[in-house]
Order: sequence, then C-alpha cells, then structure tokens
Amino acid sequence: MDDLKQKYLDAIAGAADEAALETLRVQAVGKKGEISLKMRELGKMTPEERQVMGPALNALKDQINDALALKKAALGDAALNERLKTEWLDITLPSRPRRQGSIHPVSQVTEEVTAIFADMGFAVAEGPQVEDDWHNFDALNIPPEHPARQEHDTFYMHRAAGDNRPPHVLRTHTSPVQIRAMQDQGAPIRVIAPGRVYRCDYDQTHTPMFHQIEGLAIDRDISMANLKWVLEEFFTAFFGTSVKTRFRASHFPFTEPSAEVDIQCSWQDGTVKVGEGNDWLEVLGSGMVHPNVLRSAGVDPDEWQGFAFGIGIDRLAMLKYGIPDLRAFFDSDLRWLRHYGFAALDMPTLHGGLSR
Ligand code: PHE
Repeated sequence: MDDLKQKYLDAIAGAADEAALETLRVQAVGKKGEISLKMRELGKMTPEERQVMGPALNALKDQINDALALKKAALGDAALNERLKTEWLDITLPSRPRRQGSIHPVSQVTEEVTAIFADMGFAVAEGPQVEDDWHNFDALNIPPEHPARQEHDTFYMHRAAGDNRPPHVLRTHTSPVQIRAMQDQGAPIRVIAPGRVYRCDYDQTHTPMFHQIEGLAIDRDISMANLKWVLEEFFTAFFGTSVKTRFRASHFPFTEPSAEVDIQCSWQDGTVKVGEGNDWLEVLGSGMVHPNVLRSAGVDPDEWQGFAFGIGIDRLAMLKYGIPDLRAFFDSDLRWLRHYGFAALDMPTLHGGLSR
C-alpha cells in the first residue's frame, strides 16, 4: 500500500497539466481505478483483515484526493499567471486621443448676442419655425396684397386639396415672435428672439435658411434714441471695439420710422474684415413698432410704444470671425467646422470675454 501511495503521489507531483492530472485521477480513484478495485476486494476478506485494510484504503483514497486537489489548484494558478503575463495591460497609459466636436459659429454668436442683450435686461422669447400666415404677415401690418409679401421669397407649406385657408409658411423672419411675445406677456416688455428663418434665396451672402435675433422693447416712453443707443452699445460689446455703423432710413411695414444698419467692412483675398474698407454689410433692420402691430398683438398704441430690430446672426458671424462665404456655414464640412468652430468649453460670458 505504501508503494501504491508513493507511486501516485510522485505521479501527481509530476503532472504537467490538468489533463494529465485527470488521467491520474481516473487511474487511481476512478470507478475502475487501482484503489477503487482494491476497495472492492474488501468484500472477499475476513472480518479481521477488513478491519485493518478498510480504514487504510480509505485513508489512502483521501490522501490521493487531497493531493489531486492541491495539484489542480497549483496548476490553475500557474496557468493564470502565465495568462496574466501575456494579457498584461498598463492602465496608467494615456488613452487614445479622441477628436472633440466644436461649436458652430452660429451657435457661438447666438450665445454672444444673447449674453449682451441679457445684460441689458432682455429676456429670451421663442416662436415656431412653421408659422401661420397671420403671425408672419397680417399681424405685422403686411396685408395679403402688400408688395412686401413678394419680397420675402416665402416657402409655403403644403395644403390638403380643397383647403382654402392661407397656407402656413416657414417663417421669413423672427418678427412674428414680437406678436407672440406681446400676446403672451403684454406691455411693458423687453425680449429678444433668436432662431432660424427661411427665404428662397441663394448666393455668397444668402442661404435659404439663416438665423436672426429679433429684439423688442415696449414701454411708455421708448424712443428712436433708445434704439440707437442699444444698438451701438450692442455693436461695441460684440466687436470688442467701436465699429463704424451706418443707419439708413428704410421701410418696413411693421415699423415707422424704420432704419437699416450697415457695418463698415472690406472684402480682400477671400476674407472679410470689419471696421475698414469701403464696403458696407447690412446686418439689421429696425424701427419704432407700428401702432397696427401693437394693436394686433393686443397692446394699446395710445399707451405704449417702443422699438424692434432684427439682426442677421450669420452676417455677424461672418464679420466678427472673418468668414467669407455664408454657404459654407451649412455644408456640414467637418474641416470647415474644425477651422471656424469653437471649443466646447469656450462659452461666451460678459465677464469671461466674448471671443477667443
Ligand atoms: N423682419 C425684418 C427682416 O427680416 C427685420 C426687422 C425686424 C425690421 C424688426 C424692423 C424691425 O428683414
């Protein structure tokens, strides 16, 4: 029995892997293993012999099983260590660089403009891009046969056959938000309304979709002088220096009197520069809100008056950041965005500086 024990303990100690160990287990203590067969012979023994051999065989079996279990664990550890050596990973290495997205100049400028007007006490108002005919035109003193309707190059929404109501439109300006804001809040009111607008027009400075910020200030004694001050204050803050502006007498059905404002700029070698040169870029329309507009929004024109303006955001972005072609704004070309875009954490604030 001692020989048998030594034979198996040596073999187990020398087993190279788990498969060899399993073979040894079957040979020794498997159903037909050497030790199992010996245990079967117990039945043929005399009671005296059995009393000696029984416990001895059981002890042997236990020892072999223990040795098998220990070796199995040792082999498992060794295999794991071997694997860990090849699957080693340095978690202190820096990760692979990932490209960061950037903020589109239109978003950036919208934030900048909003920050400046918020500082002057203007709240933000919103309205739908698919607008009804009344808010986009009638309420703004543009009746159905008015020539201004043709000038707007309007996109009309589809109407079901037999539906004779005036079709909804893609809003041609942010001015309908003036009406909605006054209907909601009444007077006095001071709001700006940034958003997308649509006109069927396409060249270097026009795209069928573009962005405006509407401004509206109504109180008892607001005048054209306040308008001019607010706009000049705005331009100085926006461009970080005073820039030459040109207020031109103009006409809008929804303001009286009306003024358009241009900014001095030059176009050279594919770049546009603000504050120099002999060119002017029109950036906004403005004026004193027409009494008919106040009336249609439920505000009494005998009691209230004020100004409104509509700024082209994309134009401002072109001027401030020297971007020559408006069409590229909406091409979704990532190379363009990486060049003209802004880091995500560069959000403009008045105290932090408005530009990079
Ligand atoms: N809605 C005008 C436009 O899109 C701009 C404007 C707004 C003019 C407010 C006057 C007052 O051209």
